[in-house]
Amino acid sequence: MTLSELKSADSAVALLRDPYRFVSRRAAELGEDVFETRLLLRRITCMTGAEAAAVFYDPARFQRAGAAPPPLQKTLFGQGGVQGLDGDHHRQRKAMFLQINDPDRVEALAEAVTREWRRAVDAWTATGEVTLYPQVQLVLTRAVCDWAGVPLSDAEVETRTAQLTALFDDAGDIGLGHLRSRAARKSAERWAADIIEQIRSGELSVPTSAAAFMIANHREPDGRPMTPRVAAVELLNVLRPTVATAVYIAFVAHALDGHPVWRERLADGDGSEDLAFVEEVRRHYPFFPAVAAIVREDFHWRGHRFRKGRRVLLDLYGTNRDSRSWDDPERFEPERFLGEEPDRFAFVPQGGGDPAVHHRCPGEPVATRLMIVALDQLVRHMTYAALAPSAPIDYRRLPALPTGGYPIRVLATDDFP
Ligand code: HEM
Repeated sequence: MTLSELKSADSAVALLRDPYRFVSRRAAELGEDVFETRLLLRRITCMTGAEAAAVFYDPARFQRAGAAPPPLQKTLFGQGGVQGLDGDHHRQRKAMFLQINDPDRVEALAEAVTREWRRAVDAWTATGEVTLYPQVQLVLTRAVCDWAGVPLSDAEVETRTAQLTALFDDAGDIGLGHLRSRAARKSAERWAADIIEQIRSGELSVPTSAAAFMIANHREPDGRPMTPRVAAVELLNVLRPTVATAVYIAFVAHALDGHPVWRERLADGDGSEDLAFVEEVRRHYPFFPAVAAIVREDFHWRGHRFRKGRRVLLDLYGTNRDSRSWDDPERFEPERFLGEEPDRFAFVPQGGGDPAVHHRCPGEPVATRLMIVALDQLVRHMTYAALAPSAPIDYRRLPALPTGGYPIRVLATDDFP
């Protein structure tokens, strides 16, 4: 098979125009799961589909050191965090995240979010019209800081929420948003490093099960603690994506509009189908378009030569909608998640493989649990009018969102037990 190389054009413009569908559309045009192109003059290889994902997550073939594009290191990820580690160093750091998110702790976070949501909903009712996306960011920031052992005064909530949000919501921007995201990273890292140092010095006392405590006391393979700056990056690796779950929660509300039969079925149900609904939201709606890695040593796959040092992108959005893995993939159908567990390389909204071994996200239980909290509140505990129901999804934004951020008017809420 010959390599399908798009020699003529740089793909930067096409990618910016359609960040979610660029890889799968180009792959479909070429009839291949792998192709080479140029991005800002650099050669890059793009892959899509479950079989490509299984290759991409083979640590013998790919490394993550140096894979994140520099603009994203200065905004979304920071430097020195788990995303750029390989081998034993990665496994040991990753084990810390899995411990931070163990099932009891996920339940504790769900309770904190429910509490904050109920507090907020009274204010939303009094205000009249509110926009769900930014309001849920505030709810999640309050809850995750409390849960993680990060002190947050009422006066600080808005600033810290804006900073944590700018890390993911502005990182994909190429203009002013990018500068905002870089500035937010600097301030947020200073804030988080200060908390780490206060915990280490004993000035701040937090429960041993809290994320900030575990990060402050984590030991690297050489037995040393992380530097305050790297520990700050890891603390933000817990706070930032938890707040980012606001994106998925806006999509839960959007999916409920489009599927009134499911809204009724869930409202009348006992909660046992909630997970299937939110899993289908994660499969169907866009969030991370792709992930990047670097070829470790030359190898061949599907007749394509992967050269050492080449940056490779794995298409997450397209893999979740690949007709070889999913029946009628464009259809929103939660029932597909009522049966067996999905394949770990076909269902990749937060990466593929095994989270303990690979770079797959350790926060999936958090994201799904918090989406279920939101679903429960939206369908069983409050009555609201969606002011722009089923608004079109803005796919050019990163992350994509329902246009307008999902405005609502809360009409009634039940009494919170
Ligand atoms: C809002 C929902 C979330 C989305 C869409 C998301 C998405 C992702 C994706 C696509 C990756 C990269 C996978 C890869 O590189 O192969 C990732 C990694 C990661 N996520 Fe999440 N995530 C979410 C929530 C969370 C939460 C709640 C946490 C922590 C509490 C978290 C912590 C991390 C960490 C630490 C990594 C790096 C893992 C590694 O490199 O080994 N994420 N996430």
